[in-house]
Amino acid sequence: MSAPERKVARLFRPEVLALKAYHVPDREGLVKLDAMENPYAWPKSMVDAWLDKLREAAPNRYPDPSAASLKAALKRHNSVPEDADLLLGNGSDELIQIILMAVAGRDISVLAPEPTFVMYRQISIALGIRFIGVPLRSEDFGLDMTAMRQAILQQRPGVVFLAYPNNPTGNLFAPDAMAEILALAPGLVIVDEAYAPFADSSLMSWLAKHEQLLIMRTVSKLGLAGLRLGFLAGAGAWIRQLDKLRLPYNINVLTQISVEFALANYTVLDEQARKIRQDREWLSHELNALSGVVAYPSQANFILFKLKRADAGAVFHDLKNSGILIKNLEPAGGPLRNCLRVTVGTRDDNQRFVQALKQHLQRRSYE
Ligand SMILES: Cc1ncc(COP(=O)(O)O)c(C=O)c1O
Repeated sequence: MSAPERKVARLFRPEVLALKAYHVPDREGLVKLDAMENPYAWPKSMVDAWLDKLREAAPNRYPDPSAASLKAALKRHNSVPEDADLLLGNGSDELIQIILMAVAGRDISVLAPEPTFVMYRQISIALGIRFIGVPLRSEDFGLDMTAMRQAILQQRPGVVFLAYPNNPTGNLFAPDAMAEILALAPGLVIVDEAYAPFADSSLMSWLAKHEQLLIMRTVSKLGLAGLRLGFLAGAGAWIRQLDKLRLPYNINVLTQISVEFALANYTVLDEQARKIRQDREWLSHELNALSGVVAYPSQANFILFKLKRADAGAVFHDLKNSGILIKNLEPAGGPLRNCLRVTVGTRDDNQRFVQALKQHLQRRSYE
């Protein structure tokens, strides 16, 4: 160990030293189907209008800390109940961090069904909060309500995270199970609707009847991942306290102007999401038609699939060598053993992916 490494080991909390950094693979030259991005650019006329709008930006000034007009536009386009408050984050990732900072230091735990979005666990652990992962049913990745009931009643978690639809599995949990969790949970329930633009169902209207519920959304998957903006909607009593933990100017000037502009051109984003939903059905059908592949039903802009007769890690690397980057879930193990996740791309990208997968499976399959 070098001298600085020894100092780091003495000074930093063991939870931090034990963490693994969130790995973002190099994407240079690859068809990128790994991160649930919208693959479509804006029409040229829209890009020109956006650049005109950006001329109004004053980069010498701090951004509007309240972002009032942006919040109003977000509420309108996301059917947020009139009386709900909003908290904006630099991506939903920051909102997860803010929520967990508010409870860190209390003797409470955080619970989520797993596999799910890794940041719930990662940030809990970084903040020294006990994290309880309750396995989903392995056959269909639905909530195992016997296990959830038992964990909630015994552990009394302060915060429950439910991704709706869930990542990396793509499914929506049963609404009656969600309602039961809301009734049982002694603390906050965060329903993370990051994939709302691609799902047939939302719990946004439940805010009116559940004061312990907060709904989290992001503009990332709709097509604005580079701008980094998420929001949390719910009762003012929660939002006002959480707002104290938000760094004063967390949403920069360019993001505020750009997201507001994009929302004013919502029909373009909405049409792109419609195309992605349609292509998801095509991709799902093609995957299920391949021998030895099971594609799980998805309500998001990605599809989880399992390989039954080939090694997922090897196929992942084959695809990468063919210039296509997807997500290898094999290292997560458990119910994700031999699973891969592909983001729905452009029609060309999807076809290229299916063709390449077909070839590699033929070569790799053990009969
Ligand atoms: C369920 C879920 N929530 C939140 C996020 C992160 O969203 P953001 O880009 O707003 O930080 C992701 C990203 O993959 C996700 O899958």
